[in-house]
Amino acid sequence: MSEVLFRAAWASPSNIALVKYWGKYGVQLPSNPSISFTLSECRTESRLELLPKSGEQQIEVYLDGEKKDSFVPKIAKFIQRIAPELDWLNEFNFRLHTRNTFPHSSGIASSASGMSALALICCDLHEQISGERISDFYRKASHLARLGSGSACRSVYGGLVSWGEHAAIEGSSQDFGTPFSGKLHPVFKDFQDCILLVHQGEKSVSSTVGHDLMNGHPFAEKRFELAGQNLASLVRILESGDLDAFIQLVESEALMLHGLMMSSVPYFILMKPNTLKIIEKIWDYRKQNGVPVLFTLDAGANVHLLYPAEFKAKVEKWIDSDLSSLCENKAYICDHVGQGPYRLNND
Ligand code: DP6
Repeated sequence: MSEVLFRAAWASPSNIALVKYWGKYGVQLPSNPSISFTLSECRTESRLELLPKSGEQQIEVYLDGEKKDSFVPKIAKFIQRIAPELDWLNEFNFRLHTRNTFPHSSGIASSASGMSALALICCDLHEQISGERISDFYRKASHLARLGSGSACRSVYGGLVSWGEHAAIEGSSQDFGTPFSGKLHPVFKDFQDCILLVHQGEKSVSSTVGHDLMNGHPFAEKRFELAGQNLASLVRILESGDLDAFIQLVESEALMLHGLMMSSVPYFILMKPNTLKIIEKIWDYRKQNGVPVLFTLDAGANVHLLYPAEFKAKVEKWIDSDLSSLCENKAYICDHVGQGPYRLNND
């Protein structure tokens, strides 16, 4: 086995968008601004080892210790894309060890956590190899992560993170994510997200295809305008702590996202019957108990059940008794807003 010349390891979390990124142009630039909660328990932990290279670049990827040749093209494409910015990238062979803290087949997208972990690793290695500090390490990592997967650029920071230019967000950019620096009501600081795993496994249409279908989508222009308006409203809600307004805005964003999928050409549906059953249960429970539970969806069938931390014990009991039976293998993951990525011990 050849000698490892450099190595770096990072853990990076997944995130869940409140205002959704759906539609892109150019090289991974968003058609509208978005904002997400960074999660905590759903993470990717990766270690990249740089090895001596002679001849063509070799890339090996291991998932949970098992060699995964099917992951290589995605990693190779990412490396090719960021190579113009990190001149040493083409000088080594790569060995990447990666694992997700959530089940691989859970239907939870690992691209945000995986690509952000890899981008952070590349920034770390850049500092090691060049001997120079990157002046804004996380901004650079966010920019690189974006080139791998759009939503990954928001996973580089903890808490609430936006991406895409917007007048209501200072320092916002198309190029990288921005940690939310506006006033934040305490209720949003430790919001809970229980991911109800309705459908584990590959989804029928990838996000990349879905984004592409926004080009020429009959509602595209209006959608991009509404996303901007929703972000402006959300900034005010985040300050006031108005949970009724929060519920209305976030649920509407989720349904609009899926409405866009259902009205694209060709159209498609990623929700499953149990997705709708769970949504109805959430609405009933909220009405009957006055507990501010709400849902959001990403590009899949799983339901993210969001609620303030003070209701944790009560809501978890209800999930177990009433919602888990609607999940595949009764599986769900209790997560919450997290602090963002961290460097791992290198061994
Ligand atoms: C519905 O970031 O997975 O989750 O940029 O093609 O990698 P690519 O797409 P991706 O899209 C995420 C879409 C979403 C909404 C969001 O996270 O904002």
